[in-house]
Amino acid sequence: MDVKIYDKLAKKYDLVTKIVSFGIEEIWRWIFIKTIKKYIKNGVLLDIASATGEMGKLNFKKMYFVEPSSEMVKVMLEKFKKNGFIEIEKFKLKKQKQEIIIIQSRAENFEIDEKVDLITAFMALRNFDNLKEGIRNLDKVLKNGGYFAIVEMIKSDNFFSKLILWYMNNIIPFVMGFLGLREEYKLLGKSIDSLKEKDIMELFKGYEIVEKRNLFFIAKMFIMRKNEKND
Ligand SMILES: C[S@@+](CC[C@H](N)C(=O)[O-])C[C@H]1O[C@@H](n2cnc3c(N)ncnc32)[C@H](O)[C@@H]1O
Repeated sequence: MDVKIYDKLAKKYDLVTKIVSFGIEEIWRWIFIKTIKKYIKNGVLLDIASATGEMGKLNFKKMYFVEPSSEMVKVMLEKFKKNGFIEIEKFKLKKQKQEIIIIQSRAENFEIDEKVDLITAFMALRNFDNLKEGIRNLDKVLKNGGYFAIVEMIKSDNFFSKLILWYMNNIIPFVMGFLGLREEYKLLGKSIDSLKEKDIMELFKGYEIVEKRNLFFIAKMFIMRKNEKND
């Protein structure tokens, strides 16, 4: 995905997302966080395609946020600082015993020098430039027995899914036109067409699906566990 689109959206991203989804995205995130906490309560988290860092609501003791848009990273930094984190060195923040590290990079080529307990990808995968490379790179940093948790919009044949896609491809770009963001939202709508559940499943062969659920309308949640003897 062209990161310039997200650079342009960054400052308005949280507000606009709430408005155009009628708050539904927040409900999806709430369900996602609640479900993840059933399986893993704390540890080292890596959130991919973090945008403004909303997955920080998981509140793990150490959290990596990987996001390629420099403008999103700026908004994320300010948000964490407002929440009491202090930037002790560039892109590294602390609050009491909690640590945050922001990495400005794409999923396909970031590096960290430890393995993590949980990877979260909330509305993230369809933005990857190369899904296979992105997942391969993420898999490298996940511990055996660790969790990979995904929420993604995936097209299906039901009426509501079609209605939402129509809304995303027509109404949202029209409304966003008033903010000068018509083309950006057209592209975001189109990106949903590109991702299929079977493509995701193909890439997670070494994983056990511990929970898979349709979130109302068009989103799907997958909680997967990496096999213990994967290395
Ligand atoms: C829909 S937003 C993600 C929302 C976010 N995960 C959340 O919890 O609110 C998509 C994000 O993907 C990022 N992105 C674009 N290309 C990417 C890539 N190749 N790898 C990782 N992130 C990418 C964009 O910059 C954007 O911030």
